[in-house]
Amino acid sequence: MARNVSRRRFLRAGAAVAATTVATTAGRTSLAQGEQEPRKLKIIGVACSPRQGKTTAAALQVCLDAAKAVAPERIEVELIELAGLKIPAHVAAGLPLEPGEKDDFPAVADKLGDPNVAGIIVGSPVYFCNMSALCKAFLDRCMVFRKNKFALSGKVGGVVAVGGVRNGGQELTIQTVQAALMCQEMTIVGDGKPTGHTGATVWNNGKDDITGDEFGISTCENLGRRVAEVLLARRA
Ligand SMILES: Cc1cc2nc3c(=O)[nH]c(=O)nc-3n(C[C@H](O)[C@H](O)[C@H](O)COP(=O)(O)O)c2cc1C
Repeated sequence: MARNVSRRRFLRAGAAVAATTVATTAGRTSLAQGEQEPRKLKIIGVACSPRQGKTTAAALQVCLDAAKAVAPERIEVELIELAGLKIPAHVAAGLPLEPGEKDDFPAVADKLGDPNVAGIIVGSPVYFCNMSALCKAFLDRCMVFRKNKFALSGKVGGVVAVGGVRNGGQELTIQTVQAALMCQEMTIVGDGKPTGHTGATVWNNGKDDITGDEFGISTCENLGRRVAEVLLARRA
């Protein structure tokens, strides 16, 4: 009996999948009259350094350029710098803004929550082997997405960490940011092959320059490419 019920369910599910497949396949052969070309998939880089246009932003731009290069006709990218923005962390805990206190997070949240945003790459400077306070405030405020039916669920996420030394805590920083992104039910990827680890690990040579860090740059490129490839494969 139980076996029959399972079998009926299986057949019903199979029929539903088949119907969906037919409809989808039919739609793909040509665009129906009046139907628009699919919109581009967007990948946003969020630079969480309090210093605008410095190494974290530069590393993220390398990721975004590499992501776009995978399929320029299907992917668009945007860099958002949190430097100079006010992101009060206590609001995440339900506390009100102080009188006259500014809050720039809602504008950032609007951009990230856009359904066309398929990927998010978070970049943080390494501060004492961990993310910056600005990055933590940003991730805490992302609680709004969790509370709004996990609105970031399924978006592809990657992380870049830039430190003042080669092994200054980039990997730990990446992992702590990834943990927060996983709480959003995002799909986390690392830097793809051939570097192939948890994310982009970059070294600022002390002159706010990352261009000499050949290995770090390649981790940025591999991360950007990997984010793009994974989200394209899912939409295929
Ligand atoms: C408070 C503070 C703590 C830091 N701690 C570390 C650290 O633990 N490891 C490291 O490699 N670099 C550390 N740095 C250096 C920064 O990570 C590095 O300069 C980074 O490139 C800054 O990013 P930005 O250029 O985007 O601002 C620290 C810098 C500051 C201001």
